[in-house]
Amino acid sequence: MDAIRFILNGKEVFYEGSASDRLLDVLRNTYRTTSVKCGCKEGECGACAVLMDGVLVNSCCVAMGAVEGSSILTMEGFRDTKRYAVLDKAFAGFSAVQCGFCIPGMVLAAEALLSANAHPKEEEIREGLSGNLCRCTGYNAIVNAVSTAAKEGNGLW
Ligand code: FES
Ligand code: FES
Repeated sequence: MDAIRFILNGKEVFYEGSASDRLLDVLRNTYRTTSVKCGCKEGECGACAVLMDGVLVNSCCVAMGAVEGSSILTMEGFRDTKRYAVLDKAFAGFSAVQCGFCIPGMVLAAEALLSANAHPKEEEIREGLSGNLCRCTGYNAIVNAVSTAAKEGNGLW
């Protein structure tokens, strides 16, 4: 069986397992990108969210066969960017990180949102983050953080 070739955080990799393996499991177990969290494994919580060719996907719902030729970005790759620095500062400023379990997926959801809409209204932020569940913050701090990042990151998105 041919290996599945894809780009992970900017580096070309070749996965030698089954095309039916879940991207979530492969990211965590094979490539040790453990920012990707396992919550529900049913596409309901967003803890496993990553960007696939710039589109937010729940990696628990993506089979490796669909990953061939694509580019996957996780927090391990995103955290070295200027956009992340703006989001990080805003999340810290609003105490929008508590236990932290949801945050990698939440930040990547924010990145996907701001890439598509650099100046979102509050309802658009809530809609953009609606696939990502947080048990701790009540969401307002996260929404305020993303709104502030959008203003302070002027020109980055
Ligand atoms: S673990 Fe993938 S959406 Fe919950
Ligand atoms: S900060 Fe704990 S789940 Fe969101």
